[in-house]
Amino acid sequence: MQSLRRRFNDLLVSVYLYNEYTGYKELERLINSIKIKFPGENEFIRAVEKHCDDERKHYLMFRNYFKKNDRMPFKIGPAFGYVDLFINHIFKKNIQNLDREEILGSDVLFFKLCRLVMMTEFRGMKQVHNLLQMDIIKKNPELNKIFRVIERDEPSHCYPYQYWLKKYRSHLPQFQEKITDLWIHYSLTLIKIPFLFFNFRLSRMNEFYA
Ligand SMILES: [Fe+2]
Ligand SMILES: [Fe+2]
Repeated sequence: MQSLRRRFNDLLVSVYLYNEYTGYKELERLINSIKIKFPGENEFIRAVEKHCDDERKHYLMFRNYFKKNDRMPFKIGPAFGYVDLFINHIFKKNIQNLDREEILGSDVLFFKLCRLVMMTEFRGMKQVHNLLQMDIIKKNPELNKIFRVIERDEPSHCYPYQYWLKKYRSHLPQFQEKITDLWIHYSLTLIKIPFLFFNFRLSRMNEFYA
């Protein structure tokens, strides 16, 4: 029982670790784009920079969890990455193949990308709230502490995007974006992660992302 509990925790943390890592890497690119496209939006730029720092901090907290427990994370790929999947569904491209120049040149695409980050953050806020209600997290002081930090940070991530997009009248998710968000969330939590839990051949990483 204890080893299953540990497996569940390690899997959950591995999925978070991957998402925090890809999240802060994508935000680094977004900050550069915002600085080029909206150089005067200092307050918003600062908010996105803070967001990026927080995601990196979250990544390090999860990495530390594994280091302290002397285990490595499970190998998690883009099929479990919220931003990867969102970009894939909406832009029909892998995150690495996104045409950054094209996005920068189009208000529609640029706001779409920012809206996608905003929706990811709103989803993350709900998700962390749900996790903190779960017994398995409540009973684990280490994870409880990490998720409390995330819970505290999350509101400062989503609201600046909402506020900024509102200013440009582009904050409301479109139908396709809403459906995609729901699909990604439920397919991850109800299908993909449970499937991974029972995949006992799932291997662990040899080294950390960064
Ligand atoms: Fe985070
Ligand atoms: Fe976040």
